[in-house]
Amino acid sequence: MVAARITVNGKEAPISPAAPHTTVLDFLRERGLTGTKEGCAEGECGACSILVARPGVNKPTDWVAVNACLVPVAALDGQEVVTSEGLATAGAPGTPAALHPVQEEMAVRGGSQCGYCTPGFICSMASEYYRPDRCAHADPAVDTETATGTGTGTGTEHGPNGFDLHALSGNLCRCTGYRPIRDAAFAVGTPTENDPLARRREQSPPEPVPTEYTRDDSTFLRPSTLADALRLLRERPDAAVVAGSTDWGVEVNIRSRRAHCVVAVDRLPELREMRVESDHIEIGAAQTLTEIERRLDGSVPLLAELFPQFASRLIRNSATLGGNLGTGSPIGDSPPVLLALEASVVLAGADGEREVPLSDYFTGYRQSVRRPGELIRAVRVPLPLSPVAAFHKIAKRRFDDISSVAVAFALDIEDGIVRKARIGLGGVAATPIRALATEAALEGRPWAAETVEAASRVLRAQGTPMDDHRASAGYRSAMLGQSLLKLYARTTEAVSS
Ligand code: FES
Ligand code: FES
Repeated sequence: MVAARITVNGKEAPISPAAPHTTVLDFLRERGLTGTKEGCAEGECGACSILVARPGVNKPTDWVAVNACLVPVAALDGQEVVTSEGLATAGAPGTPAALHPVQEEMAVRGGSQCGYCTPGFICSMASEYYRPDRCAHADPAVDTETATGTGTGTGTEHGPNGFDLHALSGNLCRCTGYRPIRDAAFAVGTPTENDPLARRREQSPPEPVPTEYTRDDSTFLRPSTLADALRLLRERPDAAVVAGSTDWGVEVNIRSRRAHCVVAVDRLPELREMRVESDHIEIGAAQTLTEIERRLDGSVPLLAELFPQFASRLIRNSATLGGNLGTGSPIGDSPPVLLALEASVVLAGADGEREVPLSDYFTGYRQSVRRPGELIRAVRVPLPLSPVAAFHKIAKRRFDDISSVAVAFALDIEDGIVRKARIGLGGVAATPIRALATEAALEGRPWAAETVEAASRVLRAQGTPMDDHRASAGYRSAMLGQSLLKLYARTTEAVSS
């Protein structure tokens, strides 16, 4: 096996002697690329943002911004990375390097004061600058003085140049203020024909490389096929399975977790397919949330509501549905939505595959029916979809936060009668749950204020919410009830308008 290597700003470098748990952030800084900063080391500030060449959705290659603090450098064996230093093109000898157009706009519009957050903002902005379909959203009529841009307020906020401000939802600045940063984002133009990173998008992305990288007593493994991965998991039952590493990276950095063996499954082809069949959509468990969002393009409205509220664009560029379900967290954002969609999980093991309804998947706090050695291969969403759908995430911040409570609704209402109701809840029990009693209180009854108020009282009593630092049990219960009233108000507004 070839020694593990990574290409940084066009130059190849060995990953050795970094330890298998060394993050890309530490690796870059060790090499003197100190533009990439550490703010939080847990994926919440974006100071460590870098660009990675990944398989594209609309072009062969996309430049995707990710949190370098969360990704083990061994996970980028054979891959290409660009940092803030690599964005500027080298000038003639003896002259300063030219600024990248994104850097230029940030400089002239006062988008940087202390500069600590700036390289991270620059990389997130550059990823959006190179997004192939950005200009399709361009609308010169957007008034940048009075508006933050067009869009739903929760989905996208496009500027006159099509720049979606949500590309920056994972970047925090503590001293400049966001107005000049927004001005810079809305001022960037389109890449020129000679732009090397724009040209790179037209070529194939770097292939995933089978990796076996060992230092001291720990090993990072990237198998090439699902069969190889399942064999490895049989041989190494102690292995930590990682996909986007957005959860594992926090464990490594903040809780000092170490594993003798890490198995990466994020590039397994069998886990990266998207298939639309007549009666279901199958979503590969290792596609990133950004890839799913762009591939589905709003065709599953409940998922389209979920994605903008799931962490930040930087996290969604790495995080996967398989990872979110695999951790079994009771406050993961995707389970309430997938429960309302009546999704099921396809588990692959040595003896073949089995399909488990998500409502039977969680068995206890961070526990599930997934057996040792099994991998989540895909998530299946049955069709047709219920036409009335909503996802309400109650959190202290609108974006990039953990929910106190999350509620997802999927209702079939025909001739004013609720024919079917599916409601998924997060944050009110040791596992994500279906609100079965509330569903029963709605089904077969008119979609009318009386029914909804009665069902809302039932919903308030669902689950076993707790008091913690995010919210009290009473608040959580109250939010459950309000959520159904809000949905009703929205649907009746839509009918009367
Ligand atoms: Fe804060 Fe990486 S250092 S997101
Ligand atoms: Fe100081 Fe953003 S410029 S934190």
